[in-house]
Amino acid sequence: MDINAKTKVYGLIGKPVRHSLSPIMHNALFEKYNINAVYLAFEVELGRLRDAIMGAKALGIMGLNVTMPHKVEVTKFLDELSDEAREIGSVNTIANEDGRLVGYNTDGIGARKALERVTEVEGSKVLILGAGGAGRAIAYELSKVAEVVVLNRTLEKAKELEKFGVKGDSLEELPYYIEWADILINATSVGMGEERSIVPKNLLRPSLVVMDIVYKPLLTRLLRDARSMGCVTVDGLWMLVYQGAESFKIWTGVEVDVEFMRRVALEGLRGGR
Ligand SMILES: NC(=O)c1ccc[n+]([C@@H]2O[C@H](COP(=O)([O-])OP(=O)(O)OC[C@H]3O[C@@H](n4cnc5c(N)ncnc54)[C@H](OP(=O)(O)O)[C@@H]3O)[C@@H](O)[C@H]2O)c1
Repeated sequence: MDINAKTKVYGLIGKPVRHSLSPIMHNALFEKYNINAVYLAFEVELGRLRDAIMGAKALGIMGLNVTMPHKVEVTKFLDELSDEAREIGSVNTIANEDGRLVGYNTDGIGARKALERVTEVEGSKVLILGAGGAGRAIAYELSKVAEVVVLNRTLEKAKELEKFGVKGDSLEELPYYIEWADILINATSVGMGEERSIVPKNLLRPSLVVMDIVYKPLLTRLLRDARSMGCVTVDGLWMLVYQGAESFKIWTGVEVDVEFMRRVALEGLRGGR
């Protein structure tokens, strides 16, 4: 697809953004679905976020993904928030809808769809480790259909999530709740770029479905331990793919081929693109 005067602009704002897989995923989708659009990564300082959003609006940028450290702060500068973005208190997707910037959060649905590849989520018992931005979004989404417990190192942040109808407790209670759970999700950053797991291997058992939302490395220490204990596992790249697919659907209405997106993302992760 040639870039011309009709090319629509989409992008990612955050800091850092240069490592992101989103540009290669979305540009591959625009090409595959023959959409005249381009997706770029914009590194935006915290103090320039308002300017960046006003600039995006003035320039008619059609959609943005939002990553750290702007996901919460950006809610202040948008014209409207979807129900889930308001409840979760953070935005990872902005759509320009007839000149109005509307904020959405697709992290929760992304995690749910990733999990649903391998297991039934409805009616299950889910243990989420981590009550940061991602943990909050996942707790909100899964609490609609499952029984959810969130454990966090900082107890107050887990307790705050009780407004979603989940139970919040301290990470120290992991040995107790892991016995109870059908599904375990690591939504902390532990394991990212390091050979460390937040879950002692001896607490894992074969009937537990284990998801790690960390995707660098793809096979985290937690997932390796879980596989060796016979657990069904889901990696964080599937969540990344599904949250991206949901953003793309909001922007274009297209239901994308997630297997294709996964192949593109994998190539990007391995440094091939
Ligand atoms: N796959 C995807 O699509 C996807 C999407 C979003 C995020 N992620 C990944 O998910 C991870 C979390 O992202 P986020 O946006 O939620 O980050 P965040 O808001 O900074 O939250 C970090 C979470 O990790 C916990 N944590 C950090 N270090 C810990 C430690 N040493 N021991 C115990 N808990 C620890 C924090 O606990 P405290 O509250 O006690 O500090 C908090 O719950 C990151 O690695 C991110 O890259 C993946």
